[in-house]
Amino acid sequence: MVEPLIKSDGPALAEPDDEAKKRSRLLLQCISDECEQSGGWIRFSEFMNIALYQPGLGYYSGGLQKFGEQGDFITAPEVSPLFGQCLAGQFAEIFQNMSAVSDEKLFLIEFGAGSGLLAVDILLQLEQLEALPEKYLILELSAELQNRQQQTIKQKAPHLRERVQWLQQLPDNVSNAVVIANEVLDAMPVESFRISAEKAEALKVAVDNEKLVGRYFADDILTDAINSIKQRSEIELAVGYCSEMNPAIAGWLAALENRLQRAVILLIDYGYNEKEYYHPDRSEGTLMCYYRHKAHADFFWWPGLQDITAFVNFTDVAYSALDCGLDMAGYTTQAAFLLANGLSDLHASQVSDDVRQQIKLSQQIKTLTLPSEMGERFKVMALTKNYDEALSGFSMLDLSNRL
Ligand SMILES: C[S@@+](CC[C@H](N)C(=O)[O-])C[C@H]1O[C@@H](n2cnc3c(N)ncnc32)[C@H](O)[C@@H]1O
Repeated sequence: MVEPLIKSDGPALAEPDDEAKKRSRLLLQCISDECEQSGGWIRFSEFMNIALYQPGLGYYSGGLQKFGEQGDFITAPEVSPLFGQCLAGQFAEIFQNMSAVSDEKLFLIEFGAGSGLLAVDILLQLEQLEALPEKYLILELSAELQNRQQQTIKQKAPHLRERVQWLQQLPDNVSNAVVIANEVLDAMPVESFRISAEKAEALKVAVDNEKLVGRYFADDILTDAINSIKQRSEIELAVGYCSEMNPAIAGWLAALENRLQRAVILLIDYGYNEKEYYHPDRSEGTLMCYYRHKAHADFFWWPGLQDITAFVNFTDVAYSALDCGLDMAGYTTQAAFLLANGLSDLHASQVSDDVRQQIKLSQQIKTLTLPSEMGERFKVMALTKNYDEALSGFSMLDLSNRL
């Protein structure tokens, strides 16, 4: 018996305007072309890649607002400059340690810089700390966002504009670098799978009657990958269990390891260790879509107009890092990391007599640190290469032994 196709269930969301729908239909045509070239079906990761990054039309590559109150979701740099200021404290410490053992240039490398606000906050704070790097390099897949980042830096830190450089790929042989990727891993295309009695099945996508549809197909590569996860983390996955895995992270980390000589790589994202990630209660997986601050799970709704994202399996990130020769230097919650990097002192130094400003600041701190907000759902992981000093951010709480 052929299973029914998986279709959009038409979530209760505000109707996009005609212009947006027209763009989404053009993107649907790109997906349809890709399906045709692949014999009818493409993997979910290929669909997600087109939906998010198709030049000019994908969610991140098109001109939508995306970040902030007027957009679809809010990231930590959009919540408060305190986030970037705390990170800058950690980076200044790393730069100082790197300078003590090497007189080569220091670089800060940001992946997926969003609106550019994080770059501004980090640069301005590093300037105050007299710890500016030689260059702040930004690697961003979306040309539209690169443009926006340039505008933000020009407006908010024009005197530091010359230090910032946008690159298409990592340069070879960077001597000393700190890498920051905030909410980048969750925006990488994932494979979506379902467990059947015999094998793991990959979700594939096709276009049928101008609509996106999905179907599961037995998949040997995913079956092997899932068997190895089940073994290493002693996990059982019941028949019918659905979830995701991110095959792109291993290659991404290997490229970093290959290009950087001495480095600290800081990954911040929502995620879990492997046992929590594949917990029996999470049997529908972690894929989420965001449109105008409404979260829902219908990834086939108007492609290109909504964000599609998956939680990060940090145990898998750690294994991939070790496999390519990086070291694990810490894993903690966002709240513990920010507090260990001086969040309270920064707050105290910024409080004024203006009650409105006080309330605003304390609301920002709550959003960044409360367990029910970003504080515990978001984790920070540090990976290193040729860098052995302890990192302040993990001095309050290090959960590496839970991975
Ligand atoms: C959820 S947004 C986060 C933006 C920003 N870091 C922030 O915190 O506001 C994801 C960003 O990652 C970028 N991105 C995803 N994969 C990437 C990759 N492999 N290299 C560079 N940027 C990437 C997207 O284009 C987008 O800017």
